[in-house]
Amino acid sequence: MTSTSPRQTVLVIGSGVAGLTAALEASDAYDVQLVTKAELNQSNTWYAQGGVAVVTSPDDSVESHVADTLVAGAGLTDAEAAIVLCSKGPAVIAEMIERGVKFDMKDGKLAQGLEAAHSHPRILHAGGDATGAGIAVALIDQVRRSPIQVHESTTVLDLLIEDGRAVGVSVLGGREIRADHVILATGGAGQIFPYTTNPQIATGDGVAMAIRAGAIVSDLEFYQFHPTALDAPGNFLVSEAVRGEGAVLIDSEGKRFMTDVHPDAELAPRDVVARGIAAQMAKQPGVPVRLDATMLGAEFLAKRFPTIDAASKRQGFTWGSEPIPVTPASHYWMGGVRTDEWGRTSLPGLYAIGEVACTGVHGANRLASNSLLEAAVYATRCIEGLTSHPPVHEWDAEWGAPIVANLLDGADTVPFLRSDLQRLMWDAAGLARDGDHLAAAASQLAGWETPEVLDAKSAEDANLLIVSRAIVAAALAREESRGGHYRTDFPDVAPSFAQHSALLAKPPIQALA
Ligand code: FAD
Ligand code: SIN
Repeated sequence: MTSTSPRQTVLVIGSGVAGLTAALEASDAYDVQLVTKAELNQSNTWYAQGGVAVVTSPDDSVESHVADTLVAGAGLTDAEAAIVLCSKGPAVIAEMIERGVKFDMKDGKLAQGLEAAHSHPRILHAGGDATGAGIAVALIDQVRRSPIQVHESTTVLDLLIEDGRAVGVSVLGGREIRADHVILATGGAGQIFPYTTNPQIATGDGVAMAIRAGAIVSDLEFYQFHPTALDAPGNFLVSEAVRGEGAVLIDSEGKRFMTDVHPDAELAPRDVVARGIAAQMAKQPGVPVRLDATMLGAEFLAKRFPTIDAASKRQGFTWGSEPIPVTPASHYWMGGVRTDEWGRTSLPGLYAIGEVACTGVHGANRLASNSLLEAAVYATRCIEGLTSHPPVHEWDAEWGAPIVANLLDGADTVPFLRSDLQRLMWDAAGLARDGDHLAAAASQLAGWETPEVLDAKSAEDANLLIVSRAIVAAALAREESRGGHYRTDFPDVAPSFAQHSALLAKPPIQALA
């Protein structure tokens, strides 16, 4: 007689590469629901350009990819997490190709680009500079053909916690969705800042929910600013791969300036290039720094980077014949909901994968093109772990005791505009920070009132507020500069801070709904 026990249920929140991969991986063995707040294709993933870093050539090695990941992480990358990422990467990307993702080919082999701080060309790309859309289209097609139950335009407000375990979520409109396993795949929070490469959906919802639910979050102070977004409304990303192909940064007199800043010049680590640009912008106020790609030729640029080519033309720039203005913009959050190498958080039944998670793999700074890979690898691992590992991660002593921060109750009476919050965060917690500005921002944020949740926008504003408070608390506590966290009052790396940060909200914790 066959067993009649019902199948276990998995709830995935988010439809970027992490959520889509997890839903597909789970769909054979579980009843899966996939919830996403806009359409399936609305995600950071969709806009990813440069590609996926993965070892596919015999001239390259997993050891080299791990070594590059560790260097980029500025002493905070977890070696074990990096080994998992780089060694499992090739098989996970082979599965992506099986699922229909068409990476660009050259001479019958996968084409491999070079990006900053990689010691080998190992960046697979699709549609030239439309890698994310190439991945998303194929995975969404597979999801549509699968038994996965999809809920689009469904904003998750909060996690449902019963007896200390995550058992589902509340969604805008008053409904609840319950499941045996709840997986956060809600992406990043670029919308905290006024200048960002991220789309509108990136409002830190998953981290905010996890904080309210009492999960431990980590490394929130480490935010990556991409050096080269177009200095025009929308801050369209001009991929690092453009610099990988030979484009250079020039000042108001047409002279390269990154050569004076770092031996690797334009291909130095992202935080170094972003700060180099910001310093140059300060020296030439009102005149933008420009990216000169003219030596690559209009024809090559249009073929290799069709998405950027079209976007810059829409803004009135012809980058084949003139340098284009660029500016740093918020791009990627290294911090997030603390997980182990199976996606398990500190709350039983709750998992986090992709950009919302902090596996420790990126340390203080992410290596270019490692995040699509991380999302796919750890989504796959998370589903694998549902059967092989108990649903709770014992808190790891090496991460230290979490700071218990008062994130929820301040004076809490003054309404705020999202644009005010974004400006405050850019000025106090952007590329360069210091104790005085961070402390002033903390007190301003404490006085702002959590908005009543009337619609998706007010829920996002509430999330942006709590996440900003948490970032500022973490940035104040780290009295050193490392990776994506730069303090002008503590400009050096301090060995005493060579550890992850961890933060827990001080109760009482109120759900939004
Ligand atoms: P996302 O792709 O951001 O997906 C999050 C999902 O969660 C979305 O579907 C969103 O709607 C949903 N969601 C959020 N909140 C809620 C809620 N409350 N309720 C319901 N659903 C919710 N990385 C690389 O490795 N290579 C690159 O070339 C690259 N290029 C990039 C270019 C750009 C312009 C940007 C913005 C990022 C780039 N990145 C790149 C980073 C990378 O794209 C992201 O880190 C990665 O795609 C994150 O995937 P994810 O699945 O974790 O989250
Ligand atoms: C880019 O194409 O420059 C973005 C790559 C990344 O964020 O990893």
